[in-house]
Amino acid sequence: MLLITGAGGQLGWAARERCRTLGIEFASADRSELDITDKASAAKYVKERGIDCILNCAAYTAVDAAEDNIGDAYAVNAYAPHCLASLGVPLIHVSTDYVFDGRASTPYETDSATNPLSVYGLSKRAGETALLESGASGLIVRTAWVYSARPAAKNFLNTMKRLASSRDEVRVVNDQKGAPTLADDLADALLRLYMKGAHRERMRVLHFTNAGECSWFDFASAIIARMNPSCRVTPIKTADYPTKAVRPAYSVLSLRSLADYGIEPRNWRDALESTYQD
Ligand SMILES: NC(=O)c1ccc[n+]([C@@H]2O[C@H](COP(=O)([O-])OP(=O)(O)OC[C@H]3O[C@@H](n4cnc5c(N)ncnc54)[C@H](OP(=O)(O)O)[C@@H]3O)[C@@H](O)[C@H]2O)c1
Repeated sequence: MLLITGAGGQLGWAARERCRTLGIEFASADRSELDITDKASAAKYVKERGIDCILNCAAYTAVDAAEDNIGDAYAVNAYAPHCLASLGVPLIHVSTDYVFDGRASTPYETDSATNPLSVYGLSKRAGETALLESGASGLIVRTAWVYSARPAAKNFLNTMKRLASSRDEVRVVNDQKGAPTLADDLADALLRLYMKGAHRERMRVLHFTNAGECSWFDFASAIIARMNPSCRVTPIKTADYPTKAVRPAYSVLSLRSLADYGIEPRNWRDALESTYQD
């Protein structure tokens, strides 16, 4: 049976839904049911429920807050994956484009040099390193710009929808490039990897995002055109929207590693469009 941790988050929620449609037997736990930094509780959970793989969707994802809460970020993003990998079952772990510094101009390969710019990125990279050195079986799947259409989710899509319904103009950064990724598509890919048994091999890094690339301005323009075309979207520079944590300017991930598993992500525009049809 598959255990989904962080089940209250965007990806955890989507993974639960997808397990149901794919007929995968699973148990799921949100933070109140299983704190992944509590190794003894995690070990007990895995043993008592006959878990044969952990899909770790839990993470400290508050990128700016992490700059001030270094211990919390490392506990959840680095120490906890290390503990989960030591429980004797394979781990499918999710990591981030923020392990890169964004100075590239072509998509990052799975073996491109990492150089995180933020505490969040550093803590996620520390988690990757711990897993790669653990000798455990499993997968580290890096992704980027994750969003879900679930109204309760805090993400760029829902923020843009809210602003478009209440403002005449929205100003959005146009000099950071990446690939928006629908949580449901990421969940589907992770579960297909699980069904193919990819988690039983030696720990390796894969990349999954929706295909194509765009700026936050392009993404906002596509959302707002669908919602309220009379709301103007104005491109601005990162320097005009200062944040505590530095973000990579370019974080497009090469999807070549997915070919080994026959997974072909759809374009981000098609994924976004699908959220209006559900
Ligand atoms: N969101 C993005 O744009 C993005 C981009 C690249 C990579 N990723 C990665 O993708 C994965 C999924 O992200 P997401 O967007 O689904 O994040 P999310 O919506 O923030 O969900 C993360 C979940 O983890 C839970 N959590 C935090 N600490 C925990 C702990 N100690 N024990 C158990 N659960 C804990 C959170 O619970 P609380 O809400 O109670 O804190 C939350 O429900 C993460 O590994 C993230 O690093 C995300």
